[in-house]
Amino acid sequence: MINSICKYLFLGFTLMMALSANAASKKTDPYLRPIPVPYPADNVPTAERVELGKKLFFDPRLSGSEWISCATCHNPALSWSDALPTMIGNKMAKGNRSTPTILNTAYNKMQFWDGRAGTLEEQALGPIQAPGEMHQDLDELVKRLTAIEGYRAAFDVAYPDEGISKQTIAKAIASFERSVVSTEAPFDRWRMGDQKALSESAKRGFKLFEGKANCAACHQAFNFADDGFHNIGLPMSGQEDVGRFAHRKVKVNKGAFKTPTLRDIDLTAPYMHNGAYNTLDEVVEHYNKGGVTLDNLDPNMKPLNLNDQEKKDIVAFLKSLTGKPMALVVPILPVR
Ligand code: HEC
Ligand code: HEC
Repeated sequence: MINSICKYLFLGFTLMMALSANAASKKTDPYLRPIPVPYPADNVPTAERVELGKKLFFDPRLSGSEWISCATCHNPALSWSDALPTMIGNKMAKGNRSTPTILNTAYNKMQFWDGRAGTLEEQALGPIQAPGEMHQDLDELVKRLTAIEGYRAAFDVAYPDEGISKQTIAKAIASFERSVVSTEAPFDRWRMGDQKALSESAKRGFKLFEGKANCAACHQAFNFADDGFHNIGLPMSGQEDVGRFAHRKVKVNKGAFKTPTLRDIDLTAPYMHNGAYNTLDEVVEHYNKGGVTLDNLDPNMKPLNLNDQEKKDIVAFLKSLTGKPMALVVPILPVR
């Protein structure tokens, strides 16, 4: 009963947020937030589930060393990433991919740079077990959490008939992640009719983004992503990473990675799956050249012949996609 009340409260809340973001706009504008945040039928994100998932997300006791939490790498103070070119995990081991933001992952059809997980529920158990990340045995983790009174109570309320299990741990974390969504950016205010929300340079940048620079071939709609995989010809760094090809062995997938969101993009440098670029100017220069490693390049990658002003305009537009940080209260974790 309480559960279903919370369910409706939560739905009401997301609907309200979405409606206010879309107020005064044409409902069909693909660049504005879709209503509502999607979630699977067996995991309605109630307030209790989101709160429990937030605790788990911030709790280093989810790792073997009890020292690394999801938030160690997906740090809200760094726009849910880590500001490193590539991640550092268990025993300070350096990984070969960068940590993507978890902002708007609710809208992804596939998770990870190579799309090897579908849902957020499926994704969540990966990093907990990965030896290079949190290095924790899942049965061990269930035991550890069950020994903590505060968690027993929180799972009881959030998943009354399910108890503490791998599945409910994953479901709670996924519910929290679905609450991490981008806020209204100057670009959105402009789409809704506020002409002063964007500089003239950013407006020209958007025109180039959709036109001459062809960015919108891949970075599409509200989340500026297409749930697709592309080889954009990044400079090679150390060992070869075949990307999507490891999971679907067709030639176009070789060196292809998932198109990332561009929401809050000026807060998540360094950029690309391998941290190849430190600034948005460098990224735009990459596209202007039409890529650096030209082997198996996506057909939408071509030299753009942008002049200096045009490059600046595109960067100004990209910066207009950053909203105010979402309100976040860091959770107090249950004591042992
Ligand atoms: C040691 C650093 C580290 C930790 C700890 C970590 N992650 Fe990640 N996360 C990464 C990296 C690196 C990737 C990209 C890996 C890849 O694509 O192969 C990633 C990818 C993801 C993605 C996919 C995002 C997208 O756009 O595809 C999600 C969601 C995510 N992590 C959530 C979590 C959750 C939940 C936890 C805790 C249970 C967690 N991460 C712990 C580094 C970390
Ligand atoms: C062919 C598809 C495609 C086109 C065209 C394209 N992008 Fe991308 N973009 C991607 C993919 C895929 C990635 C991730 C590549 C990787 O890490 O291997 C990416 C990454 C980025 C990143 C870094 C994101 C991050 O979080 O690291 C930015 C910024 C970006 N693109 C902006 C642009 C701009 C601006 C344009 C136009 C000038 C553009 N893109 C054109 C597919 C594309």
